[in-house]
Amino acid sequence: MSIPQHVAIIMDGNGRWAKQQGKERTHGHYHGAINIRNIAIKAHQMGVKVLTLFAFSTENWKRPENEVSFIMDLPRVFLNQYLQELLDNQICIEFIGEWEKLPASTVKICADLLEKTKHNQGLKLVLALNYGSKAEIVHAVNEFISHHPHMLIDEETLEAHLYTSHLPAVDLCIRTSGEKRLSNFLLWQLAYSELVFCPLHWPEFTQQDFENTLKEYESRHRRYGGL
Ligand code: FPP
Repeated sequence: MSIPQHVAIIMDGNGRWAKQQGKERTHGHYHGAINIRNIAIKAHQMGVKVLTLFAFSTENWKRPENEVSFIMDLPRVFLNQYLQELLDNQICIEFIGEWEKLPASTVKICADLLEKTKHNQGLKLVLALNYGSKAEIVHAVNEFISHHPHMLIDEETLEAHLYTSHLPAVDLCIRTSGEKRLSNFLLWQLAYSELVFCPLHWPEFTQQDFENTLKEYESRHRRYGGL
């Protein structure tokens, strides 16, 4: 089986899944966070090198305050419940986006997750937190201009200034819950990725569904603009 090196996921549908169960939207986010553990372990077992997940977008601040603060507390839940398993599975956590501008208590937990898993050699689990792709591209260009005010930027240089510069190209992007949009996620990085839109909501997307999606990826023929 040809395994994608880098898989990205837009974990959509937590709220709708919770409503279907007659529960609050936050119940969906809680189960969404638990599912990160399931899918990260499966991805690691299948030989995926990098799994990048859209956990909180720059647009998500528009949500009700109780929902935002619930999501801000999920990294702590993750640390408390899963640190040992992350270590046992050699999973290394990283963050992309303006995560250092999140509430201080969240930043502290994220820094802790980063520090405690940094020597792990297995899957890199990259959480996009307070992330927006357009803002990332603007940030990259401004970084370049500030150091080279009289030069023109090229594709390679722009790429080297993105948050993902140290990661392999994204091979496959999955969006759950049936929506067919990119919603300002990794716009540059997804230029040649395979896209899979899955009707299941994120909390109900199982390890078997992940494996099936990788099989679908394998059946596709990537041409990168050639024949
Ligand atoms: C989209 O579902 C999901 C989010 C905006 C948040 C996703 C966050 C997590 C799964 C947990 C993050 C965990 C950590 C450890 C940081 P939605 O709420 O838009 O669902 P809906 O479209 O059904 O309303």
